[in-house]
Amino acid sequence: MEYLTIALAKGRLAKKALNILEQIGITCEEMKDENSRKLIFTNEELKLRFFLAKANDVPTYVEYGAADIGIVGKDTILEEGRKLYEVIDLGIGRCRMCVAGPESARELLQHGELIRVATKYPRIAKDYFYNKKHQTVEIIKLNGSIELAPIVGLSEVIVDIVETGSTLRENGLTVLEEICPLSARMVVNQVSMKMEHERITDMITRLKKIV
Ligand code: PRP
Repeated sequence: MEYLTIALAKGRLAKKALNILEQIGITCEEMKDENSRKLIFTNEELKLRFFLAKANDVPTYVEYGAADIGIVGKDTILEEGRKLYEVIDLGIGRCRMCVAGPESARELLQHGELIRVATKYPRIAKDYFYNKKHQTVEIIKLNGSIELAPIVGLSEVIVDIVETGSTLRENGLTVLEEICPLSARMVVNQVSMKMEHERITDMITRLKKIV
């Protein structure tokens, strides 16, 4: 039997993803050690390999078949636009993709003004403003702490993930428009889906029962 390789997004989702896999009997004790610098882990018994990667890279590993399966947020799937099968909504890491900013920016959105939008998700922001709202905006790509942008005057609004809303609240910002709900998904390489159909569909069936 060949190894099936599972790529997990590093960060807040990883623990929850491992937890959900554990519920269907897929375990990887070694991976729980947060101090470890090891990158890849094996469960010999189940013929599974696991690795942690930057969330943005998970769809890439899966599209190229370096991982058969990935667990990653819908935000990353939308932003990366890779060729893969999205097979199940795992219901973990629920949050929303939103347009946010100071209350004063609401008017600018309503009047369709040419504003600047800072975001880690330029593709999602572009699709929303250009294709859904038909509003011309200038999109500025940032890599983190997006909430800073409207505070220091880099942009009027941001497009970012809102989970509890506390980052916005603590910085005097608010949700102005909601783009879409988000959660973690299991994604599968298109060739693996055919070649390892039985093992993968069995995993999907078992996951469906618990989510
Ligand atoms: C994300 C997101 C928001 C925050 C939202 O950032 O970009 O900043 O979480 O969560 P909340 O609504 O519960 O406050 P993350 O912590 O992943 O880091 P980043 O700012 O570097 O992107």
